[in-house]
Amino acid sequence: MKRVDDFRLTFGKKEFVPILVGGMGVDISTAELALEAARLGGIGHISDAMVNDVSDRRFDTSFVKDKTRFYKYNIDNADKSSIKFDLAVLADATRRHVDATMQAKRGEGLIFVNCMEKLTMNAPRETLQVRMASALDAGIDGITLSAGLHLGSFGLLADHPRFRDAKLGIIISSVRALQLFLRKNARLNRLPDFVIVEGPLAGGHLGFGMDWAQYDLATIMAEVLQYVKNEQLGIPVIAAGGIFTGSDAVHYLEMGSAAVQVATRFTVASECGLPADVKQDYFRAGEDDIEVNTISPTGYPMRMLKSSPAIGAGIRPGCESYGYLLDGTGNCAYITSYNRELALHPDGKNIVVMDKTCLCTHMRNFKCWTCGHYTYRLKDTSRRNEDGSYQILSAEHIFKDYQFSVDQQVALPALVEVD
Ligand SMILES: Cc1cc2nc3c(=O)[nH]c(=O)nc-3n(C[C@H](O)[C@H](O)[C@H](O)COP(=O)(O)O)c2cc1C
Repeated sequence: MKRVDDFRLTFGKKEFVPILVGGMGVDISTAELALEAARLGGIGHISDAMVNDVSDRRFDTSFVKDKTRFYKYNIDNADKSSIKFDLAVLADATRRHVDATMQAKRGEGLIFVNCMEKLTMNAPRETLQVRMASALDAGIDGITLSAGLHLGSFGLLADHPRFRDAKLGIIISSVRALQLFLRKNARLNRLPDFVIVEGPLAGGHLGFGMDWAQYDLATIMAEVLQYVKNEQLGIPVIAAGGIFTGSDAVHYLEMGSAAVQVATRFTVASECGLPADVKQDYFRAGEDDIEVNTISPTGYPMRMLKSSPAIGAGIRPGCESYGYLLDGTGNCAYITSYNRELALHPDGKNIVVMDKTCLCTHMRNFKCWTCGHYTYRLKDTSRRNEDGSYQILSAEHIFKDYQFSVDQQVALPALVEVD
């Protein structure tokens, strides 16, 4: 019976354990988590979502405070178009985060950064270009383009000295998205180094509509693999979304997947950035505690725990401090929803906004508990402590469980001796 360790992901002459730990925005996939994946011979992701804030927390910079102070005059203004990101600050924050991570890297694996196109930051092209270029400057091994079609993203990097040596890949949810991407980028004469096919059971934003349940990863994978073969593209195709055990992973590797990308199992790792009490909520969740909703202002459906404090919260939009979802003309769907409710409650009190959420503020505060479909199985991956809480796992334990387990088994952590 095969296990994941019988397979290898090859990039050029180099081989890797075919496990990628996916990017989880706003420092849920921390440097520490990514570094463990790389140390163990796989690929870890950090994320550049809200990187100014991440830099403040990690490196004691004051980028967010400075921005808040600068735009304070605008806090009660419904028009957010004047709020811009200082590109030098954005570059500085990105370089700090990437550089510190790369300096700490040990082992044979790689570290990639997850770059979401939907973080439009009120100047989509300029900010994305700075984010990607600064990550390359700071030595990141590769970039995974996500949350968007990224039709122009390779073009933004074409003049970068590392454009042809860094590993650049894209997340897609349909063969059509891949075809479109390749067509739009044909003139650059540079194929993606990898393609991640993310199915509808993933965490974070979904590349499907609310009819997501009508799609399945295996079918999309088969279509993409066939297309890549027919066109003789030779691009490694990586499956993601709902791969919960080593045996699930082997299923995709046997059908031709070059590797698997996983995330949900790692949300309860000690290296994961979620607060300890939130990890316990993930462990405790039952199937009915999880929903796919449309409260993200990005327009993509998102899967999350129904108990997420972000749902229904009516806080004032935090664009003066954050503003990562401003669309380039100063708009964000949450601002529209919030202003509608504010007009009904002009005193600003007891505002409830059900249809959208201030994703920046809530992701920043770990109050939007996005998760994969199989979060309700996490409880089967650990042991319970006497107080009813679950034992937090190490990233190494989870990684090795994917790598070596067979027969749909999930290895439990070592028993903790109690005196
Ligand atoms: C908590 C959480 C946050 C995520 N955030 C992001 C993100 O910021 N960007 C992204 O491209 N994918 C994100 N994802 C998707 C993962 O990177 C990954 O592709 C997917 O969840 C894999 O499916 P699995 O969770 O069932 O293993 C997130 C997933 C989770 C569970």
